[in-house]
Amino acid sequence: MTEQDRILQLREELHRHNYNYYILNTPTISDQEFDALLRELSDLEALHPEMADPNSPTQRVGSDLSQDFDTFVHVRPMLSLSNTYNKAEVAEFYNRVREGLAGEDFEICCELKFDGLSISLHYEDGQLVRAVTRGDGVQGDDVTANVRTIRSIPLLLQQGGDWPASFEIRGEVLMPWTSFEELNRQREANEEQLFANPRNAASGTLKNKSTAVVAERRLDAYLYYLLGDVLPTDGHYENMMAARRWGFKVSEAMCKVRTLDDIYVFIDHWDLERKNLPVATDGIVLKVNSLRQQRTLGMTAKSPRWAIAYKFQAEQQSTVLREVTFQVGRTGAVTPVANMDPVQLSGTIVRRATLHNADFMAQLDLHLGDHVLVEKGGEIIPKIVAVDEAFITPQRGPRVEFISRCPECGAELVRYEGEAAWYCPNETGCPPQIKGRIEHFVSRRAMNIDTLGPETIDDFYARGLIHDYADLYDLTVDQLSGFGDSRIVSARKTIMAIEKSKHVPFERVLFALGIRFVGETVAKTLARRFRSIDALARASLDELLQVNTIGEAIAESVIRWFADADNAFLVERLRSQGVQLQLSEQALAEQSDRLAGKTIVISGVFQHHSRDEYKALIEQHGGKNTGSISAKTSFILAGDNMGPAKLEKAQKLGVPIINEDDFLALIQ
Ligand code: IVH
Repeated sequence: MTEQDRILQLREELHRHNYNYYILNTPTISDQEFDALLRELSDLEALHPEMADPNSPTQRVGSDLSQDFDTFVHVRPMLSLSNTYNKAEVAEFYNRVREGLAGEDFEICCELKFDGLSISLHYEDGQLVRAVTRGDGVQGDDVTANVRTIRSIPLLLQQGGDWPASFEIRGEVLMPWTSFEELNRQREANEEQLFANPRNAASGTLKNKSTAVVAERRLDAYLYYLLGDVLPTDGHYENMMAARRWGFKVSEAMCKVRTLDDIYVFIDHWDLERKNLPVATDGIVLKVNSLRQQRTLGMTAKSPRWAIAYKFQAEQQSTVLREVTFQVGRTGAVTPVANMDPVQLSGTIVRRATLHNADFMAQLDLHLGDHVLVEKGGEIIPKIVAVDEAFITPQRGPRVEFISRCPECGAELVRYEGEAAWYCPNETGCPPQIKGRIEHFVSRRAMNIDTLGPETIDDFYARGLIHDYADLYDLTVDQLSGFGDSRIVSARKTIMAIEKSKHVPFERVLFALGIRFVGETVAKTLARRFRSIDALARASLDELLQVNTIGEAIAESVIRWFADADNAFLVERLRSQGVQLQLSEQALAEQSDRLAGKTIVISGVFQHHSRDEYKALIEQHGGKNTGSISAKTSFILAGDNMGPAKLEKAQKLGVPIINEDDFLALIQ
């Protein structure tokens, strides 16, 4: 392969990882692997200036912009730091600084590199006025309402403090390990997708549309950078100490040093000690302490010359691969899992590691008995990164192959176009799929039958009491208690909870059915548009495609689901059992077509209803809510403090802006 071809290949690969990381929030490689690829690309690009491309992954610092918040243009761009991975590179940084300062004395402030998402907070007269995510570095999302729920961020600064009238402070929003583990426990119980690591959990939380959810999730924040026209002192460290007095959470792990040796001592200390911290860190940050000297050193296009990050090595261990087993999930997707000799890794004993899918497994070229290298980076689930070459002998065990039949029911596996996973197609006969569907049906956001956990469902299934979710409504107290007095109370509770679920509104029932691609939001949209399960079952592909936000994959999946005779029978049984299969009178009465065909952008802060309520109102009246203003926008529903970027765009495109009261009059 020529270097030019490699450049193209790397760009494509990095674009994909960028998407996995920033959009899907599910990275498939570690940060270190990503950084290594990015480095290789940037080195090759330096050798081939003729291949320059403004859209190369090296040209951007990543973006986490989303549609649901106002965008805010940063007063000063939020740069990132260049990374180093070994002490030699740290020494190079140190020497560059010394040369840049022409022999002047200097101090370095050493601090932890927190692994969350960066936030910019604005304070006016001692009050928090705005919180903005990093976004693409130039502009970010205004997440003030969500940030107000983070208890370690002061809304009012300490009285009598010497804080400037106006300043910005930047830091990192984090989800502590304990909150993260608790959150994933809950999500597991609710059959919701788990967060891969605390950073993704924090990012998903901060961009959640409901501030209540954010508040519940217990985020934390450490601040590490003060900016403004007037600052207390010329020292970064001293300014952070002042910020701590004003009420900000500033890490205790900050210290000033002068020599390279002292920097190494700091690195070695925290490489071990960080395992005892309540939050995730992925390295340390070194900053020239004097602000005057920082200005002398200046910036490159992407990062300051006065600071650098040193990234910790992800811990790796070698162990022996004993067996590969295959797990079948609720959707039928088959995941290979490596079972290994137990090994101590980052404070826990590891026996199992995910092998993701057939391609990943084949790439590793695993043989039973191989010594494998296991790594636990930012991800919670350990993974095998390679076969330990040092131990390969001529008499290697048999090569591990992906299976062709379902380990649970024996059906031949299939692969759908464009998907990495193999699936068991035996939806109605494969136990983990059957149980998985029932677990989804009873989950909190679906039918909310909270007394039925995975173990109970397992037990009922094993006793032959349930084969599908309609069977739940035929259960009796006697069946559940097995005529035993001790179990009668819990049996009664369960029957009552099942009974109560008959009042769950239609849109949640639709979600509970477990139609592929029909998540909560899609279920709501479909329920509002078709109003009853019968109308939905009769809908043609074209009719489905005409609904806003319904694409081909969803439409085809709905058609396929209703075409299946087993599903039609399930619906009939749910109907006779009294489950809600159409919108209630009240929901119908609240609907209208007054906003049909209108595309509406919501911006600002409101008095009468929350943003979410306005979104729901728009949908109820047949309108469509979108995040960004375009020529197609019918009007903007604006509250107080509409973002300046949005205002400018609206004026440029001539999009009308209407206030809350006018909007409410419009739909009355
Ligand atoms: S200072 C111009 N200090 O690392 C310098 N950043 O790539 C601005 N980070 O986006 C950043 N801990 O999200 C700084 N103690 C620390 C940090 C830190 C974590 C993050 C931050 C930034 C990224 C740099």
